[in-house]
Amino acid sequence: MPIKDTAVRELIRREAQRQNETLNLIASENYAPRDVLEALGSPFTNKYAEGYPGKRYYPGNEIVDQLENLAINRAKKLFKAEHANVQALSGGGANLAIYLALMQPGEKLMALKLSHGGHLSHGHPVNFSGKNYKIIFYEVDKATGRLDMDKIRAQAEIEKPKVIIAGASAYAREINWKEFSVIAKSVGAYLVADISHTAGLIAGGALKNPCPYADVVMTTTHKSLRGPRGAIILCKKELASVIDKSIFPGFQGGPHMASIAGIAVALKNASEEKFKTYAKSTIINSKAMAKEFKKFGIDIISGGTDTHLMVLDLSKQNISGKIAEELLVAAGITVSRSTIPDDTRSPMDPSGIRIGTPAMTTRGFKEKEFIRTAQIISAIITGKNSKKDLKVFREEITKLLKKFPVK
Ligand SMILES: Cc1ncc(COP(=O)(O)O)c(C=O)c1O
Repeated sequence: MPIKDTAVRELIRREAQRQNETLNLIASENYAPRDVLEALGSPFTNKYAEGYPGKRYYPGNEIVDQLENLAINRAKKLFKAEHANVQALSGGGANLAIYLALMQPGEKLMALKLSHGGHLSHGHPVNFSGKNYKIIFYEVDKATGRLDMDKIRAQAEIEKPKVIIAGASAYAREINWKEFSVIAKSVGAYLVADISHTAGLIAGGALKNPCPYADVVMTTTHKSLRGPRGAIILCKKELASVIDKSIFPGFQGGPHMASIAGIAVALKNASEEKFKTYAKSTIINSKAMAKEFKKFGIDIISGGTDTHLMVLDLSKQNISGKIAEELLVAAGITVSRSTIPDDTRSPMDPSGIRIGTPAMTTRGFKEKEFIRTAQIISAIITGKNSKKDLKVFREEITKLLKKFPVK
């Protein structure tokens, strides 16, 4: 049934059109399929269900309990985890709930620095995590742009953190979970793996699963996993109770049951054979773009990618990330500005851009389309573009996107 509120209906129509007419390379975004959107708009939104299956603080939860158990069991099966909590409302909140479960205020959290690819909720001073805990940042190696596990080990041995968090928002290389777990165990720290970006690639078998190694694994559900906005926390059996209690009643009230319905659907989709192809293609496409950028002399942090994303260092092109972002928007392409390690520019106008392939792979782009897209991006960021040039690229992209509608 169409929405009666014409103002909101019109905004939804325009946003759907904008998404359809934009070549989306924002690494954290994707297109949730119709079945996920339908679950999100279901009557589950009406139900209060504080507590957990079988132990609720409201009546009328017989069906909700089945739904939450379904989502939990699907999450456990897909990621081969001992325990799953599907109630966290977002990734940032899920991380904070994990810290609350594992640390006392003032204890040490070791995490990848934001400007080196980490996330705000991994101890940035403006975030609750940075204000409430003593943060020890590790960095990527200056020369290679990669995590240097020997340096991380040495740092952990000196600092003896309570929690080490591995995982990133803008790091293009596969993370060695096993080595992180060896380091964490040797210094008596918990290892938390934040796979928000790569969960879909892990679910599809294209990257390694941290569940056998990490004490706690957190993922958002709306990025490469292609679900609704939300998060899942996976952990070892011994931590199940402390994690559950930290989410509710420690951090949240009633779970968003309609989101959990959407998460259940997304988890089923991600367990299917064709999702394996999606995960594999997302990485193949990303590597094809990286190769093309290099042909144009554009530097990529760490020299390439093993995943769905890459960070381009535009210092040599003498163009800032913000300007590049704006020029690309004019051509119909969205990317996100990004800091590069040890950036001398500000996060609002940094030296790089982050590019990711999950969304356009969902729309059916293959290597051919991604290579052409990389050529257009390279021409825009390496050349002096007039408004007319951008218009020509815009027309080409509009034509291309018509063949790959958002479904
Ligand atoms: C690694 C990582 N962790 C956590 C989050 C936070 O997720 P949310 O935006 O759902 O709070 C993000 C989102 O970008 C992320 O990239």
